[in-house]
Amino acid sequence: MGRKLLLEHINEPGIQTFEVYRKKGGYASVEKALKTMKPDDVTEEVKKSGLRGRGGAGFPTGMKWSFIDKKSEKPRYLVCNADESEPGTFKDRYLMEKIPHALIEGMITSSYALGAKTSYIYIRGEYMYVAMILEKAIEEAYAKGFLGKNILGTDYSLDLYVHAGAGAYICGEETALLESLEGKRGNPRLKPPFPAVAGLYACPTVVNNVETIAAVVPIVNMGGDEYSKIGVGKSTGTKLISASGHINKPGVYEIELGVPVEEFIYSEEYCGGIWKGRKLKAVIAGGSSVPILPTDLILKTAKGEPRLMTYESLADGGFATGTMLGSGGFIVLDETASVVENLYTFARFYHHESCGQCSPCREGTGWMEKILHRFRDGHAKKEDIDLLWDVQRKIEGNTICPLGDAAAWPVASAIRHFRKEFEEAVMNSLELAHV
Ligand SMILES: Cc1cc2nc3c(=O)[nH]c(=O)nc-3n(C[C@H](O)[C@H](O)[C@H](O)COP(=O)(O)O)c2cc1C
Repeated sequence: MGRKLLLEHINEPGIQTFEVYRKKGGYASVEKALKTMKPDDVTEEVKKSGLRGRGGAGFPTGMKWSFIDKKSEKPRYLVCNADESEPGTFKDRYLMEKIPHALIEGMITSSYALGAKTSYIYIRGEYMYVAMILEKAIEEAYAKGFLGKNILGTDYSLDLYVHAGAGAYICGEETALLESLEGKRGNPRLKPPFPAVAGLYACPTVVNNVETIAAVVPIVNMGGDEYSKIGVGKSTGTKLISASGHINKPGVYEIELGVPVEEFIYSEEYCGGIWKGRKLKAVIAGGSSVPILPTDLILKTAKGEPRLMTYESLADGGFATGTMLGSGGFIVLDETASVVENLYTFARFYHHESCGQCSPCREGTGWMEKILHRFRDGHAKKEDIDLLWDVQRKIEGNTICPLGDAAAWPVASAIRHFRKEFEEAVMNSLELAHV
């Protein structure tokens, strides 16, 4: 059994309440940090831990924290990204719903490290019931002296707010999120300046994912060095994976980074194998935005090594033969699934969610949806495969934020690895035309 750092007490009756969470050792990281450590010591432990952002990009968290402009006299903010709109990703919801105090505790300890006196949890509008769970947990933390003025009798004070968005995928992009939090339309900002210099209300800001912030709790409790011993290479610690699709046991799993993909799919501890005794066809390993890989490439790298659930191993081979760990939204397709159908669904989503600021994304996502609709509905021509390839190429790298890339990569990888399915769709279209 792999080690559990975030979900260890998830099945404890009443763990949603302050009382039970505290009995299980909750809020120890706040006591340790505020009473025995300087803010920079906390950042140092996070650096030592090797923790990488769990929101998708995998940027080293300690390094991100150290970029915050400490010379500025403006207030500093920590903003938790709980927007979680990436198709296939539902791990943050699980964590916040089942063990809300883990996030609140992480927010307090992390805010202390950053010198933030006001912090926010930006949650997607569809998670309103989760926002209410968080509000209750925050209320309890205030009542017990872990939030508000002079926490635990120290001179550190913190106010924490939950802010609900209105249900837009783009508001998960950190600068769009900040715009939305400021009450404006959620359009991504041009960078630089980065949020660490000019973020919320043009003040130094750190934006971190829910899981990243929750991981600060075990890091402070056990020490960064100890945490860094879990995992493989630069993929340290544990990771929550939202597993869905054609598997026997969909759900949220906490893995030690480094578990072989094959073990993750087939072992009883995790996904329990492919449903209905069918064969595996493909996996989208890190949420809808990452390249899809066929069975041979998801189980083994192009070098023939077992593929591991790590940032590096999943990316091995670049986009030619690899993919990304992303947000950990692990979607499994069995042999009966249609890659074209799946891709069309994603393309519709990205077209709908594009904010429209950049022409390549605004127009390109619409074109991809239209062309994929032709493949799906039997009107595609042979040239459409090249046209689709051309459109995705013109989006990638040509937009303010990576939503365009996120829309393009699944298309490119599907054509790269499943071209035959597109060709078959063209053949079917030709046959239909002769009926
Ligand atoms: C279109 C788009 C949507 C995103 N959605 C989310 C999200 O829902 N949650 C999240 O944590 N990060 C999301 N991100 C990544 C954030 O911009 C940012 O990198 C992340 O919140 C940083 O936190 P981390 O360093 O802890 O991973 C999204 C990025 C893009 C481009």
